[in-house]
Amino acid sequence: MNLFDVYPLFDIEPVKAHLTTIWDKEGKEYLDFYGGHAVISIGHSHPHYIDTITKQLNKIGFYSNSVKNHLQLDVADKLGKLSGYEDYNLFFCNSGAEANENAFKIASFSNKRNKIIAFKQSFHGRTSGAVAVTDNPAIVAPYNALHNIQFLPWNDISAVEQALRKGDVAAVIIEGIQGVGGINVPDKDFLKSLETLTKQYGTFLILDEIQSGYGRSGKFFAHQYAGIRPDIITVAKGMGNGFPVAGVLISPAIGASYGMLGTTFGGNHLACAAAIAVLDIIKKESLIQNAATVGDYLMKEAAGLKKIKEVRGLGLMVGLEFQMPIAEIRKKLLFEKGIFTGYSGKNVIRLLPPLCISKSEVDRLISSLKIVLENS
Ligand SMILES: Cc1ncc(COP(=O)(O)O)c(C=O)c1O
Repeated sequence: MNLFDVYPLFDIEPVKAHLTTIWDKEGKEYLDFYGGHAVISIGHSHPHYIDTITKQLNKIGFYSNSVKNHLQLDVADKLGKLSGYEDYNLFFCNSGAEANENAFKIASFSNKRNKIIAFKQSFHGRTSGAVAVTDNPAIVAPYNALHNIQFLPWNDISAVEQALRKGDVAAVIIEGIQGVGGINVPDKDFLKSLETLTKQYGTFLILDEIQSGYGRSGKFFAHQYAGIRPDIITVAKGMGNGFPVAGVLISPAIGASYGMLGTTFGGNHLACAAAIAVLDIIKKESLIQNAATVGDYLMKEAAGLKKIKEVRGLGLMVGLEFQMPIAEIRKKLLFEKGIFTGYSGKNVIRLLPPLCISKSEVDRLISSLKIVLENS
């Protein structure tokens, strides 16, 4: 059997990793400024993470959600405390798209509406409803296009009010910081008005913190810069540091009932062990603070680069927009300088390193970028 060929691959095969460093099968070393697409939060193969998951596997790895699992309560407790959402309820699932699908179901079950508002340049996943609220027709199949969705311009509150006034919108979904769309930080006033208006019109506000959450922005959630409290928050990526685990944080004002949601794998013992280790390390190693200070440093240093148009982001979710396409720059960074980076569109390099990245590693990125830009 062959693999279904949907990914254009770099000719590199990582076989080992530790914190911010990756080694390929030839033994070549790389610095990770991409975090496997924002997934690596606490660093690759952190010893405490390995230990916690290994110990759990030696006890029990999985049983179904029809029996008690105190590890789920431990995750909820630690996540509530660290994020400031102790009064919210947690539903476990396995991926970001699945978290968003469940968020839409919760909203729609609760207010009996079916329309969702999303924003231009959004990315919310690849499954049915999640891809329907993703502003990229190229990845929306006809089957996905049957949902009742409206896309509105970014940061345009009067467009939102006009759409909400009809009283038929189940939920508004917005990323804490748009990732795939180019590292766009929503205006604080826009988010505040979004909170007020959604409440006023009986619509649920869903914050997709799948990429921007778990400390990456320099706060636990990016929306906390605006001081708002959404009805529903979705998390994935950094939650398991590579172990597939995701969650939906749900306001206590929203009621649950048996059978309303469900999952086979969500919240299994191993996933919970991974999630617990991640939360413990984020706290113990002050990784949210590190994301804030090293992220600030990175953005200041990057602002002085040649041919740079704009530096956007918060914490360690950073977009470097250049005056020209960046594909060649990324290739040179990877193959000549041994540094992984990401992209958003043609001109933006996207940086999503592990939250334990240091200032000296930022210096290495910046000096490598200078050399690469000199020869571009
Ligand atoms: C903001 C956002 N939402 C949702 C998703 C989908 O997550 P997953 O690939 O785990 O389904 C992603 C993935 O990149 C994302 O960046």
